[in-house]
Amino acid sequence: MSHIILPKDWDSPRNEITPENVYQNRREFLQLMGMAVGGIAGALAPAPAVADDGFFGLFDSAPSKLKTDFPPVPNLKRNSDYTVSRPVSSEVAALKYNNFYEFTSEKSKVWENINDFKTRPWQVKISGLVKNPIVLDVDDLIKMMPIEERVYRHRCVETWAMVVPWNGFPLEALMEKVEPESSAKYVEFTSFFDPGIAKGQNSVVDLPWPYTEALTIEEAGNELTFMATGIYGHQQPAQHGAPIRLVTPWKYGFKSIKSIVEIKFTDSRPATFWNTLIPREYDFTANIDPEVAHPRWSQKREKMIGTGDVFATQKFNGYGEFVAYMYR
Ligand code: MTE
Repeated sequence: MSHIILPKDWDSPRNEITPENVYQNRREFLQLMGMAVGGIAGALAPAPAVADDGFFGLFDSAPSKLKTDFPPVPNLKRNSDYTVSRPVSSEVAALKYNNFYEFTSEKSKVWENINDFKTRPWQVKISGLVKNPIVLDVDDLIKMMPIEERVYRHRCVETWAMVVPWNGFPLEALMEKVEPESSAKYVEFTSFFDPGIAKGQNSVVDLPWPYTEALTIEEAGNELTFMATGIYGHQQPAQHGAPIRLVTPWKYGFKSIKSIVEIKFTDSRPATFWNTLIPREYDFTANIDPEVAHPRWSQKREKMIGTGDVFATQKFNGYGEFVAYMYR
């Protein structure tokens, strides 16, 4: 029996009802990913449902095929304005437990499926309602930006969590350079599209690839909003979204789009990947809130990768002092 629950007319606003073609696409998407149709509970499930994929194990040993030799980022300084009371997660755990649906829906297998993903050279386009649109090589962009390290919490909508030291630059620093027009109300981020190497994209099914995400212009300019070009003191590994990804630590992890090729400033709200596929389960704003359950599981607790430690989830993932003003 399928776990996909189509909302009834009486419990969902009309415009949130999943259209039949999207439902069909989801079925085919999951089949394509080698999962039973009911397996969306495995792809997007609370942690207990994925106990058998290694989530509960300790990940401290690196398998010999796991790439760990990434170029270090020189002269990296940690920004002490952002501290996290929990310990930083094991890097091997983070390298081996990912969401990157372009490659596979199996979190513990992303690292094995990204060997053909070339993340250099890589161009990033800044477009739309800005005074200074630009297309540039990601390494030239990195040279222009104030690179620093920030230790942030990360909370996936599926209830797993980690604490990692990202390196990169605040999006507001890039916004100062490109100068958004006053008519810009949203920022849309688009990931790569290369079905030749990303087998999840290589389908006849009409899914909303490439992966897209978006923020309001106010969220984009928030001091926490970070473009991560690396992690753990080195360049970004492919499985974490090399060469450049978004990080919004007060939002569920699906907002943190990986491997970005375009950042576009717009005056209307862009469609986004998960919200288009399953709007009732993945809303546009996606702020972390333990009091708002996912339709299929509670969001009250979270489990750390690597250790399995369980903590109570905090509103805005504990970042209320930085972000709550935007939602009053
Ligand atoms: N970005 C792209 N392009 N594709 C994805 O499948 N998954 C998202 C987000 N960014 C995803 C993505 C989800 S659901 C999460 S929780 C985080 O990436 C996981 O980041 P990590 O694998 O680096 O921990």
